[in-house]
Amino acid sequence: MEEKDQEVRKDYIEGAKKSLSKIIEEIFIRFSSAMKVAQIYEPNNLTFIRQINLLFNLIQNILQKEGKAVFQFRENTLFFNTTRVKFDFSSYHNFKFLADEFREKEIGTLGFNPGLSESELTQFITLFIDDEVIKENPFEDFEAVLKESGIGHIFLEKMHSLEVTGGAREEELQKSAIKVFFKSITHLKEVVEREKKKKRIWLKTTRRLMQSIINLVSQNESFMIGLTNIKNYDEYTLNHSTNVTVLSICFGRRLGLERKELVDLGVSAFFHDMGKVEIPEEILNKPGKLDDNEFDIMKTHSWQGAQKLACLKELSILPVTAINVAMEHHIWANLEGGGYPKYWKKDHTDFFSKIVKICDFFDAVTTERPYR
Ligand SMILES: [Fe+2]
Ligand SMILES: [Fe+2]
Repeated sequence: MEEKDQEVRKDYIEGAKKSLSKIIEEIFIRFSSAMKVAQIYEPNNLTFIRQINLLFNLIQNILQKEGKAVFQFRENTLFFNTTRVKFDFSSYHNFKFLADEFREKEIGTLGFNPGLSESELTQFITLFIDDEVIKENPFEDFEAVLKESGIGHIFLEKMHSLEVTGGAREEELQKSAIKVFFKSITHLKEVVEREKKKKRIWLKTTRRLMQSIINLVSQNESFMIGLTNIKNYDEYTLNHSTNVTVLSICFGRRLGLERKELVDLGVSAFFHDMGKVEIPEEILNKPGKLDDNEFDIMKTHSWQGAQKLACLKELSILPVTAINVAMEHHIWANLEGGGYPKYWKKDHTDFFSKIVKICDFFDAVTTERPYR
């Protein structure tokens, strides 16, 4: 632990190569550790002091670099100074822990201003975990206590009333959402392996999973979108495909698509990058930019995916849109502007291809690739 802490500090101070999102993620890990430690130890305990010190240094560094450090929870997504924050699987539980704590106190924004002192931070954490502070109104009571204590460099804003949820039903819903999300990733992994062996891919299971995602999205859309903020470098394509599926279903639902159409859209989004199976790992995970030759190989994943889907044993229950989406999700809307494959001649791309393209792009630009 000691060594790990040293490493984190060293990386931050010397590194600066580390991405901002990595640092923000570390602040969150530190934050939740400090809360957990504060629940067990008194403020004069050495472990507690050390945790606060590590957290304080990270916040200080951010303040020096950015001039402000503002966390905002919006619809189960965390923003830091307006950047959407993504989490590793391993730190998702820290995010969930803090999100629950914030929701309980109805805090939508937590900000640190330059001039913050270590003792203010200690006081803040101590008051945060103190059950006695809240009498009637979670946010107002907590904010009043902060003011009384003279904490001047930390500010709060109340969570939007629509976001204040909770209760046992909500918990259950969140558990099923997490289960379905990870089941989808595992299922896609199995599909890829079975397709390689030219076996049936259990398309009925895919459709059933889409039904579950649609149910969950209609009950708690923001929580489902929140799950797309988890990043997974090891299984990037699987995770990305699941994210694009969830986002496409949310988008399609907002556009007024019917249930049957949403299932087809979900299946199409789920398989949009099937062709990447054929792209060599060295190209898929290449640190830095692809050269022209590598990019040409990468571009083949559109038609390779469409071809794979068209050759499935279960083609009769595969929506034809899935083949179009695989082929068209890298083509620009007007077909003249660019994108690939170049030879694909149609007046316009499929409506589902446009939805998936937008969600694909959104997920890609908000996720940092391993070294890119
Ligand atoms: Fe793609
Ligand atoms: Fe993609």
